[in-house]
Amino acid sequence: MQINLISDTVTKPTPGMLDAMMSAVVGDDVFKEDPTVNALEEKVAKLFGMESALFFPSGTMTNQTAIKLHTQPGEQLICDKYAHIYNYEGGGVSFNSGVSCRLVDGSRGTMTAAQVESVINPPDFYHSPLTTLVCVENTANKGGGTCWNFQELEKIRKVCDEHHLGFHLDGARLWNAIVEKNETTLQYGQLFDTISVCLSKGLGCPVGSLLLGTKEQMDKAIRIRKIFGGGMRQSGFLAAAAIYALDNHIERLAEDHKKAQEIGKALLVKSFIKKVEPIETNIVIFEIDESFMTSDTFVNKLKEKDILIIGMGQGKLRMVTHLDYTDAMHDELLKQLAAF
Ligand SMILES: Cc1ncc(COP(=O)(O)O)c(C=O)c1O
Repeated sequence: MQINLISDTVTKPTPGMLDAMMSAVVGDDVFKEDPTVNALEEKVAKLFGMESALFFPSGTMTNQTAIKLHTQPGEQLICDKYAHIYNYEGGGVSFNSGVSCRLVDGSRGTMTAAQVESVINPPDFYHSPLTTLVCVENTANKGGGTCWNFQELEKIRKVCDEHHLGFHLDGARLWNAIVEKNETTLQYGQLFDTISVCLSKGLGCPVGSLLLGTKEQMDKAIRIRKIFGGGMRQSGFLAAAAIYALDNHIERLAEDHKKAQEIGKALLVKSFIKKVEPIETNIVIFEIDESFMTSDTFVNKLKEKDILIIGMGQGKLRMVTHLDYTDAMHDELLKQLAAF
């Protein structure tokens, strides 16, 4: 039995999801004639109480499209130093939009409104790039699945309004935050100008993300998606998986969170573990005391037992729980950790 904790993106469609995909009614979505994609877009827009949604192949493309919608070349966006858009989207912010990132030294991927306000460049000081956008990530991946404090997000919204800045949410794992904090999609829809959500992470779909915003924004976004090569044809098969996941896979995320907590506890009692970062959702980030063994040794020893985990650099290791991480796998992992 292989236990893959590298990411929540390693899941395969469930039988129920495959059935939904097999019976999807499809058309050519580049002509907006795929009824299942259209139904998904309407469903998600309604879920968030936002005007319009557009289906994309990836979360990178939804984020990059949002940044392009909100900015002009030469401008600057504000994000935390751990942000996915800054660290893991191939430099797309500068490549696609000609925009620089002003990084905030936040806490585990989150920032305060005061930190955001303090790095806005004065708009009349033409020597600096013009600040036009704030991007936040909930949950914050590199931060360890951190959930934002919603009141802080409301304060940042106020700062954005006062300084005429766009406010974008990278909600690749927003579902995890909503389940964990008992929040609603509508709350988020009211707060942000644009939101990206992924179906291919905690929700277990093979492919797919959505960008949400106004109708006017999505009319522009469809052209950007075209330029990025993200127009898909009979993508209703994927949209059917997404609709199934939205109906069946959101509440169960609490199970992933519970398992992550239990893994954290199992790690903490081991003398070779230096630190386990606070666990809020489905991501466990920890460090090995290298006087016992190196983190590479630990990863390799687990690999010998067919347990896969990943390094995050700077000695940090990560395990992510997900839909395909079963109770039997969890028992086995806890047993192996106890015996280590
Ligand atoms: C927080 C966050 N945003 C965006 C993405 C990008 O999603 P994709 O891999 O679908 O491009 C990821 C991927 O892991 C992510 O963790």
